[in-house]
Amino acid sequence: MTARDTAAVRRNRDADWDAWPVDAYLAENYRRVHPCDRGVIHHHSAFYRRFAPGTLARTLELGAGPNLYPLMLAAGASRRIDALEPGAASLAYLRRQLTQGPEDSWESFYALARALDPALPATLAEALTRVHPVHGDAAGLPDGRYDAASMNFVAESVTEDRAEFTALCDTFVRAVRPGGQLVAAFMERMPSYRIGSGPVWPACPVDAAALRAVFAPRTTALRISRLAKDRTLPEYGDTGILLLTAARPAA
Ligand SMILES: C[S@@+](CC[C@H](N)C(=O)[O-])C[C@H]1O[C@@H](n2cnc3c(N)ncnc32)[C@H](O)[C@@H]1O
Repeated sequence: MTARDTAAVRRNRDADWDAWPVDAYLAENYRRVHPCDRGVIHHHSAFYRRFAPGTLARTLELGAGPNLYPLMLAAGASRRIDALEPGAASLAYLRRQLTQGPEDSWESFYALARALDPALPATLAEALTRVHPVHGDAAGLPDGRYDAASMNFVAESVTEDRAEFTALCDTFVRAVRPGGQLVAAFMERMPSYRIGSGPVWPACPVDAAALRAVFAPRTTALRISRLAKDRTLPEYGDTGILLLTAARPAA
């Protein structure tokens, strides 16, 4: 038996999400458009371009954190984007971006998003007027509220417990109405990780087979693709990024 086998499995409630290191996380991941961001943006933009502008009444970003690019990508198709986030520091950052204007570093993300989807508003600030930060976590989500839902680096990056990972994905699927649409990104095979020199955050390594096992019984039109590991990011122990689209089966 290894030390890892005997170590206590850290569950979602065991981490202090209020203390998420927003500045360090942005510095490591989102101060410029990394190759993996470009890949996720291309994938998610194609998802949102399936819908005519403004035809999704209400959509969800589950575990939004301080990442603005999934929110801006939704702003062409969606009239209202609920950015659900349990962490106080991330929520405060999101609210500041909306009330005081987005930091300049997000403009290059928006330029790419808008080049791919001309239905996006002329400015990032205008796109963000559709975003409503909501304090809460996956457990509080009602069944079937949303036309579409997006989740980026959350279910696999917030618990070491495989059953809890599955439950988070299940909640994500059930957040949309029957026939509602899903788009997501997951770190591939990432173990628990650090941001900078901070504490270790719990994660659950998943591969495409693990995603298929969770999503195939719960969804239709499941598509999973992969981005190569991005060597311009810090070493998080991942092997790349997995991208997913699917739909909740119609009633
Ligand atoms: C690795 S970060 C990803 C943030 C962001 N989605 C991104 O693309 O960078 C994980 C996020 O999930 C949030 N989170 C943790 N537990 C959660 C839960 N039970 N329900 C919803 N979000 C949760 C954290 O607060 C954090 O913002």
